[in-house]
Amino acid sequence: MFFGHGTNNAWDESAALVLHALALDHDDPTVYGRRVGRGDQQRVRALLARRIEERIPAVYLTGRTWFAGLPFEVDPRVLIPRSPIAELIERRFAPWLAARRIHRVLDMGTGSGCIAIACARALPWARVDAADISVAALEVAARNVRRHRLAGRVRLVRSDHFAALGAERYDLIVSNPPYVGARELAALPPEYRHEPALALASGRAGLDSVHVLLAQARRHLRPGGALIVEVGNTERAVRRAYPRLPFVWLQFERGGGGVFLLAAADLPSPRARRAGA
Ligand SMILES: C[S@@+](CC[C@H](N)C(=O)[O-])C[C@H]1O[C@@H](n2cnc3c(N)ncnc32)[C@H](O)[C@@H]1O
Repeated sequence: MFFGHGTNNAWDESAALVLHALALDHDDPTVYGRRVGRGDQQRVRALLARRIEERIPAVYLTGRTWFAGLPFEVDPRVLIPRSPIAELIERRFAPWLAARRIHRVLDMGTGSGCIAIACARALPWARVDAADISVAALEVAARNVRRHRLAGRVRLVRSDHFAALGAERYDLIVSNPPYVGARELAALPPEYRHEPALALASGRAGLDSVHVLLAQARRHLRPGGALIVEVGNTERAVRRAYPRLPFVWLQFERGGGGVFLLAAADLPSPRARRAGA
């Protein structure tokens, strides 16, 4: 069994699955010490069996999770939210950015919409574009936007990276793009095969999407804007591919890493060549 899709241990996943099977609420103090009837026991066993035998991450079995303290609906059309960027959003990007100056945000590769929606909730004065190439993912994001009553401030856009965004410019572009290389993808535990390949795979070295973001973000940032991207364990490969870019690698109290910040002025200008940009 592998635990890495929102929890890191069997206990939390078991608790989530048992409570879900019994339609009980984690916060209900009367939950513990209840008697469980035979029908309910069978429901619990059936759900646990799916987790163990089919290796389906618990979040896909319950259909919901939390990100930045907010609830989200998820299913196998979207990656299970788990980015350390949640912590940054909860801190309103302090100490790196002045939240009051962020009026336009782009979440590139929005999946369930978790980053876009959490940004909109953390920055209630901001308008957020949430882009994804996957129509299926955008359907899930739309449900979450409705659930959080943010249709007035979060716009969903089907786009291959920046292609459908025209001349839009943002104060902040934030992205958790796909960044798994081909060899690493083949070696991932079975739980990951339930996630959309589009959300994980990014070419041979895992850098295809990051290259596009670094090449094109500057054209879509306002002066004083910033780009924040999660690249996970491809951090070393990113540093090697762009030795001259002054990446700021962010630290997280709750764990995780591989997230960089670059000021708009430090990004390659649109015509710069990639090597060492
Ligand atoms: C790692 S997932 C991140 C999802 C979500 N932002 C999160 O943090 O949970 C990457 C997302 O990027 C999307 N994606 C992949 N290629 C893309 C492209 N060329 N243009 C836009 N989005 C893309 C995938 O469909 C997927 O939803």
